[in-house]
Amino acid sequence: MCLYEWVSFFLRMGKCSKNESIIYMFLLTYTIFEHSMKLTPIYCLILLLSATFGLCSCSNHELTKLPKLIVKHHSYSNPDSIQLTHMDLDLSVSFEKKQLEGKVIVHFKNPYQIPFLILDAKQLTIEKVMLQDSMETSWSLSEDRPVLGQALVIELPKNANSVAVYYHTTAASEALMWLSPEQTSGKKHPFLFTQSQAVLARTWVPCMDVPAVRYTYSANIHCDPQYMALMSASNPQQKSATGHYHFEMNQPIPSYLMALAVGDIAFKSLGQNCGVYAEVNVLEKAYNEFTDLPKMIDQASELYGPYAWGRYDVLVLPPSFPFGGMENPRLTFATPTIIAGDKSLVSLIAHELAHSWSGNLVTNSNWDDFWLNEGFTVYFEERIMEKIYGKSYSDMLASISFGELQATLKDLMANAPGNTKLKLNLNGRNPDDAVSDIAYIKGSLFLKLLEEQVGRAKWDAFLNKYFNHFKWQSITTEQFIDYLKNNLLNAQKDTVNINEWIYQIGLPSNCPKVHSQEFERVEKTALSINNDSSLIQIDTTGFTTHHWLHLFRQLDPSKIVSRMHVFDSLYHFTQSGNAEIQCDWYLLCIKNDYAAAYPAIENYLLHVGRRKFLKPLYEAMIQTPDGLTRAKAIFEKASAAYHAVSRNTIQEMIANAKP
Ligand code: BES
Ligand code: ZN
Repeated sequence: MCLYEWVSFFLRMGKCSKNESIIYMFLLTYTIFEHSMKLTPIYCLILLLSATFGLCSCSNHELTKLPKLIVKHHSYSNPDSIQLTHMDLDLSVSFEKKQLEGKVIVHFKNPYQIPFLILDAKQLTIEKVMLQDSMETSWSLSEDRPVLGQALVIELPKNANSVAVYYHTTAASEALMWLSPEQTSGKKHPFLFTQSQAVLARTWVPCMDVPAVRYTYSANIHCDPQYMALMSASNPQQKSATGHYHFEMNQPIPSYLMALAVGDIAFKSLGQNCGVYAEVNVLEKAYNEFTDLPKMIDQASELYGPYAWGRYDVLVLPPSFPFGGMENPRLTFATPTIIAGDKSLVSLIAHELAHSWSGNLVTNSNWDDFWLNEGFTVYFEERIMEKIYGKSYSDMLASISFGELQATLKDLMANAPGNTKLKLNLNGRNPDDAVSDIAYIKGSLFLKLLEEQVGRAKWDAFLNKYFNHFKWQSITTEQFIDYLKNNLLNAQKDTVNINEWIYQIGLPSNCPKVHSQEFERVEKTALSINNDSSLIQIDTTGFTTHHWLHLFRQLDPSKIVSRMHVFDSLYHFTQSGNAEIQCDWYLLCIKNDYAAAYPAIENYLLHVGRRKFLKPLYEAMIQTPDGLTRAKAIFEKASAAYHAVSRNTIQEMIANAKP
């Protein structure tokens, strides 16, 4: 063999399969032995170098034949062939490397002896895949695609019922937010949290990342003993001296509900089966805000059946958390921006609690059916709020939501009317596109209409039956509609235009009326302010956060330009500690170029990572003269403290803005 042949031989080795490389290695040893006496030093060196290169890049795990890959509902996985039953995680948390490292043992049933298990994986480094009997098996990763990531295809020998995937996360793993001590409230310790919904679970655990697939999980998490680890599972209430934590989730959940948080966290009990976790310096405030939680659980259970998950705890995260809340089973993750000091923003907890029925117990089968999760939950949330705080209070919440829906409809009907349907077709799109007031508010109004049609007693009995019938299942819109027709409505006579509500754009004309008596006086006040440019003193007795929000939204910004500073000195909005009031007021400030508020606005954007607030503020800023430059400058400083979910949204907005 000449030198050229040898080099190409080694380079080929880098691409060969396990068996092929064993044969190559054998041939190589034999040939070197046979020729050793004849080799010149330079020949020897080139041979050695190319051998090293060939061996280093030798991917001996690679499959020679890949099955045909099919993407269904944002997943490459093959749940129609192989049934995932349990995941067993063993992960070490390194704040130094910003990395989770370890393995997941995936248990499954394979009745048809399908030769490949296909999992979703994104932004992960897969090290090896082992079979139960400690034998390595062949596997391959498909090309990386946006949103979807990669298919991890694992070869299965006959009768295999589990595989262990050894892997670590990377700096790109989008679900993970690694916070530096400065980005926490305590400022002393780092913090880690995950956000898996909608399709980010695959960025920290290889899994079948589609909500139609449910499985139980257990986990061993290892961290520095200074920290506490928590998951969407059975949880500790104290730090472990060893830094080892064991978790069990014995009820089948979809992948988007897997969650992990690690940090300097403490716990305080709120009731028999509920409590709050937070960084130590936030714990007391959080505790005081959430004292109505036991009542909420009781009232929710009274409405739609027993709470199915054992404990219900809330973890208050640092302000980078990109959502208001996330319904991770047994442990809702929540933003600290709902701690207003007067319990005025706790409907968010009612919302996440309601997901314990709508979403976690009965789950949308895929993201096209997202409204089944969120529409039901908004409806349920309002019922909990009504039971605890009264009808007039829940009417205010409903009215605020209705106003938000009107604004969203106006925008979407002009720009993307297809997105105003309840049932979406997100094929080839990012499931994030489904997250709008349509699923939440149009969805809840459809259910309100059904309630109005049959009466509350009959409707509540139906919903109870529905949750019980589909518990621990993931269902489609069509399954719900069938069940509705067969168990509540007269199948022959559709008096509610089901099809129009579900499959058509816009808001049907039989939409229930939403009205708040409390807001009548707010609307009068707003009218006076808009019409009388000298009006300053207003009667705000009994005003809650919701009154203020409604007032801000009724004001014509152009009519109050000259009174911004007067209102501000009377009511101290710029310095408010209420994140909702701040956001609405700052919007007015940006539109009216009220420069006195700019430092506070910048400070807010630097510290709050909740997308719901960031989006309108950046949007408004971009639309002002010089606003794009300001928005870019703030984003540059702030983006490290934003989770990928928020960062990507704002980045895209800035990139698409016209200078
Ligand atoms: N599950 C959602 C949050 C979510 C939705 C995350 C889609 C990723 C993709 C959560 O229950 C939610 O709706 N949060 C809202 C709460 C609000 C409607 C009370 C939020 O974060 O603003
Ligand atoms: Zn929700």
